[in-house]
Amino acid sequence: EKGGFDHFMLKEIYEQPSVIKDTYRGRLHADKGIIQMSGVEDHLEKFLNADRIIIVACGTSWHAGLVAEYIIEEFARISVEVEYASEFRYRNPIINKNDVVIAISQSGETADTMAAIKLAKEHGAFVFGVCNVVGSSISRESHAGAYTHAGPEIGVASTKAFTTQITVLTMLALRLAKAKGTLSHSDFHRYLLELELIPEKVKEALGTIETAKEIAAKFKDAPNCLYLGRGYNFPVALEGALKLKEISYIHAEGYPAAEMKHGPIALIDEQMPVVVIAPKQGHYDKIVSNIQEIKSRSGKIIAVVTKGDTQVRELADYVIEIPETSDALSPLITTIPLQLLSYYIAVYRECNVDQPRNLAKSVTVE
Ligand code: M6R
Repeated sequence: EKGGFDHFMLKEIYEQPSVIKDTYRGRLHADKGIIQMSGVEDHLEKFLNADRIIIVACGTSWHAGLVAEYIIEEFARISVEVEYASEFRYRNPIINKNDVVIAISQSGETADTMAAIKLAKEHGAFVFGVCNVVGSSISRESHAGAYTHAGPEIGVASTKAFTTQITVLTMLALRLAKAKGTLSHSDFHRYLLELELIPEKVKEALGTIETAKEIAAKFKDAPNCLYLGRGYNFPVALEGALKLKEISYIHAEGYPAAEMKHGPIALIDEQMPVVVIAPKQGHYDKIVSNIQEIKSRSGKIIAVVTKGDTQVRELADYVIEIPETSDALSPLITTIPLQLLSYYIAVYRECNVDQPRNLAKSVTVE
């Protein structure tokens, strides 16, 4: 059942090229220059008239929501707020009839997310569900939605659910951008073509496995780890840290790289591994200076860089090379080596990778 892999998690990491394709199949038509998502087409006006979009989710799905915030605001110019479902449901939030609430949930059974959408519905908002499990409670409770088609995810640590959620939300952003005319014709077309190439690039990024393994062997006994990223890759830093915490029990924190100087930099010494997501597209020069700041304090730098990078390579202790893609789509690629890194660290520490202590696959209690 694990298809020859030692763990479900590794199998699911390796399924990503094909499930991302399943997720955009029938929806993304790069040749015709269109995106068609039935759950969106039927309710396009709701999205176009929305004062804002509120995304509610928990854990990894919340991280996908953060990536979506950046993409939807950039592409479709609609204001987006992302909330932990557990906070939203208990804090008397302002919800209007013209709000669109997007609930993201792999299982579709998370109690806090379910309660958040019930609250949103009571206030007359339109609820759009992004779920993986077909027929799940959240998908049934939503007014409309889009499934992620990742197939069953057994490992408690979410991997393929995350990348397929980002795929769906990117398509949604592109669809809305097309309707609103907020992206130029050529940019829109370029993103469709690039999205089509993502599965191949994910496959290539899976080739970092040996490097990830070597780095994992070096850092398996670290008591702490920091993850830094900027822009679209800030949520990837959070996700990298969550993955390490939950399966290896190493304390890890994700931060926007620029926040370092407001506190976390005090933690850096020669014992502290710092994983920096530093692809060529995006705020490259800024991240290079962040890396210099870490180096001058003797932190151990593990950098995820674009293939052929020379500048970061000179500064970092270890580099993991990934294929190039545009800044907005990069989370789909940068996240792959971080999954592999945490996987091998957990394996070397002899942890129960698929069923970490204290965790359940779906959190149906509040
Ligand atoms: O099924 P959901 O997407 O609603 O689950 C949300 C979180 O419980 C989930 O992402 C959790 O954080 C994972 N264990 C992360 O790997």
